[in-house]
Amino acid sequence: MKIGMFDSGIGGLTVLKEFIKKYPNNHYIYYGDTKNLPYGTKDKEELLKLVKPIISFFAKQKVDFIIIACGTISSTCFSELKKMTTIPVYDIITPTINYLNHNNYKSMAIFATNRTIDSHIFKDKLIAKDVLEIKTPEFVPMIENNKLDLSIIKNYCLQVFNHDILILGCTHYPLLINELKKYLSIPILNMAIPLLNSIEISNDTNFKLELYFTKIDTNLINNIQKIIKESYIIKEI
Ligand code: DGL
Repeated sequence: MKIGMFDSGIGGLTVLKEFIKKYPNNHYIYYGDTKNLPYGTKDKEELLKLVKPIISFFAKQKVDFIIIACGTISSTCFSELKKMTTIPVYDIITPTINYLNHNNYKSMAIFATNRTIDSHIFKDKLIAKDVLEIKTPEFVPMIENNKLDLSIIKNYCLQVFNHDILILGCTHYPLLINELKKYLSIPILNMAIPLLNSIEISNDTNFKLELYFTKIDTNLINNIQKIIKESYIIKEI
């Protein structure tokens, strides 16, 4: 199968990594819009403009389906995006909400981008009443620029340590898992896992990985090498 996946930058690679682990025999095409990141501070109109060329790109590549490996686009543009194409599209937030609604967590905390938190998708769709949504706008720049500030991370963790579960509502945040675990002993949910558990795909093509980014520099290459261990082709688009 040919699978298209996209995000603003390296965040979606955390989703890609889980897909490769479960389905190693597929052709993956990843699109990272590094020229326009972060997405989390942009409004819906801007995001829709940015998403259009990505969908056209995947249509040209004739992918079998598209994974929105981005919490911000999933929370803000999913219904519009589905109307842009006949290719099946999967968002990353719906399976997380379904998973949480079928489990007995009483209090939940969510770290996500400004745009995702402003959408209140978690508060609106989760059955549980005790849902704490927290904007963590420093995280994406910290991760993309490789400049982690532990005091900022710790301060956010102090707000959620007594909840039953922390949901990483942005696909960049699994890249902070080691730092978050320094301050938290509650379960931490990577949205890629419920997504993968909610779909069944075949695993019958030779492995191939193509990475496309709208801006490539040495920092990006170093970041990719830390996340993706398989061989890949990378191109600026
Ligand atoms: N990784 C994306 C998300 O899941 C986008 C983050 C950003 O660019 O602000 O929300």
